[in-house]
Amino acid sequence: MSSQIDHLLNENREFPPSPEFAAHAVAKPEIYERAAADPEAFWAEQSRELLTWAKPFTEVLDWSNPPFAKWFADGELNLAYNCLDRHVEAGNGDRVAFHFEGEPGDTRTVTYSDLTDEVKRLANVLEGLGIGKGDRVALYLPMIPEAVAAMLAVVRIGAIHSVVFGGFSADSLRARIDDAGAKLVITADGGWRKGKVSPLKPAVDQALADRDGKGVQATVENVLVVRRGENDVDWIEGRDVWYHDVVPQASAEHEAQAFPAESPAFILYTSGTTGNPKGILHTSGGYLTQAAFTHRNVFDLHPESDVYWCTADIGWITGHSYAVYGPLANGATQVLYEGTPEFPKPGRWWDVIEKYGVTIFYTAPTAIRGFMKQGREIPQARDLSSLRVLGSVGEPINPEAWMWYRDVVGAGTAPIVDTWWQTETGAIMISPLPGITAAKPGSAQVPLPGISATVVDEQGTPVDNDNGGLLVVTKPWPSMLRGIWGDPERFVDTYWKMFADKGFYFAGDGARLDEDGDVWLLGRVDDVMNVSGHRLSTAEIESSLVAHEATAEAAVVGASDETTGQAVVAFVILKESFLRENSAAGLADELRKWVGTQIGPIARPRDVYVVSELPKTRSGKIMRRLLRDVAEGREVGDTQTLADTAVMSVISAQVK
Ligand code: PRX
Repeated sequence: MSSQIDHLLNENREFPPSPEFAAHAVAKPEIYERAAADPEAFWAEQSRELLTWAKPFTEVLDWSNPPFAKWFADGELNLAYNCLDRHVEAGNGDRVAFHFEGEPGDTRTVTYSDLTDEVKRLANVLEGLGIGKGDRVALYLPMIPEAVAAMLAVVRIGAIHSVVFGGFSADSLRARIDDAGAKLVITADGGWRKGKVSPLKPAVDQALADRDGKGVQATVENVLVVRRGENDVDWIEGRDVWYHDVVPQASAEHEAQAFPAESPAFILYTSGTTGNPKGILHTSGGYLTQAAFTHRNVFDLHPESDVYWCTADIGWITGHSYAVYGPLANGATQVLYEGTPEFPKPGRWWDVIEKYGVTIFYTAPTAIRGFMKQGREIPQARDLSSLRVLGSVGEPINPEAWMWYRDVVGAGTAPIVDTWWQTETGAIMISPLPGITAAKPGSAQVPLPGISATVVDEQGTPVDNDNGGLLVVTKPWPSMLRGIWGDPERFVDTYWKMFADKGFYFAGDGARLDEDGDVWLLGRVDDVMNVSGHRLSTAEIESSLVAHEATAEAAVVGASDETTGQAVVAFVILKESFLRENSAAGLADELRKWVGTQIGPIARPRDVYVVSELPKTRSGKIMRRLLRDVAEGREVGDTQTLADTAVMSVISAQVK
């Protein structure tokens, strides 16, 4: 980490916006002063301008019971109406909402009229299946237009969606379905990935079966299945319903009812520092306000002419806020691509950009580093001249990757916005504004207008410029999480306890302010890893490892990795009883696969080391810092606080 910091501190390049870009930019410099003068008035103004309220709000922020915030509480709106109907009513029904490109090469053009029609039909189907206000619906789908329609149909009728990333296992899906008490699951037979159909319905079937002894009441009444992969699937009559049997036949008349601004819109599970994922809860009016505001201003969206592509899967918050809610609220034209960047060969993403004339591109540093490895000839063989704004999200972007992104993808001219935010913040919080900020490679730079965030020491005192500490948000913001589903105490403890006397939100990230006061993110300070921009918890992977019959103890760390940012590295101690009857040969590999099946392939450790001991303090706490040193091939740091100081040399010898 320290070499990384030194490296960042030597980074002093700056790229101001071109006068031409600035002249046409959505955001003008005065926006910062206007927001700072009265943040609540600023958000109220943005909300009125960007959204259509069925019942206008008169209150802006209610912070009388912190940390439980209410925004625009007496107003009423419908999220789907804001993303769809109103654009059609305004005469933009023929505008393309999505250029869909399937991985096998099939395409569909979905206009705002088409999508509105589909969502209305689906809303009628959902109501027919007994889904109503406040019910939870789990979505387990590939990146196809039906996935977007499903999210919007759920919120249209006041129900709550919980999208589960299609790469998660049946067990992970089951845990999320149960925690939310979902009544319906919407899935597909399968989706296309790397040239093959990756089945989805079998995982749903498995998640809903074998419940005996698990101590949970099965809440799911129906499974609605989109046909996409055309793979064979099992069918439970009475429970399972084909999407194509009911949606096209349903009525396309559906009036969007308005719901109070604080009505829950969705739950999205994310990893924390314990074994159980947290169901982050977002509500309606504040969420959509900030999603729309940030999408418009950070990406400089001109909806009449731009073609925008966010590569995130809808299973993550980026897919929610920047492939669905923000862009659709703004009437944007988007690309939706189903598959992987390498299929059928490296360069597919650049082909997609060229084909649809993408102007705004939003992706993750991991992807950029992957492309760097493949070589600049691949993007350079395509015409990428349509690109005018580039975004980055999910993890710190190193200056080399930033420069490559700018030079090779953005022709040395397209501004890059490095956007810092989280599942919990709901929308972008810290980012340059492309027509205003002089960009610095590797820095997320400045809190957006209306956002108050800073870097503090452990007592909560703001650090001076040129110093590091912990990133906090000091004032409530419209798209902030409203809680953890079913666990208000965990919500308070996780985010608000650390700086309770100050009322700051603790983000879990370390950061530094440079001499100009710009923010440089330095990664998580807790036991959360960030692998390819995906959040994973060390505790969750450890509990999966010890669930294997061979494992007595496990410790997991995130070690830096050239491509994925961090990689999962596990140290395990095997049970003596197991070793008496079995050999340890091949176990490391088996344990890697085990985690992949238990949680999902993204959680599969890069390395599993079988060791005889783990480094522990006298109070029994595992010292992950030392294991990280081993995993990253560094000299092991200070071992004084260990109960047994010799243990690290034993471990180092065992991993060689
Ligand atoms: O550590 C930060 C990192 O990703 C975490 C949030 O993960 P998640 O909730 O999965 O949301 C990812 C997409 C918004 C943060 O705590 N992170 C996110 N964006 C950046 C980042 N780290 C550095 N720079 C960023 N731009």
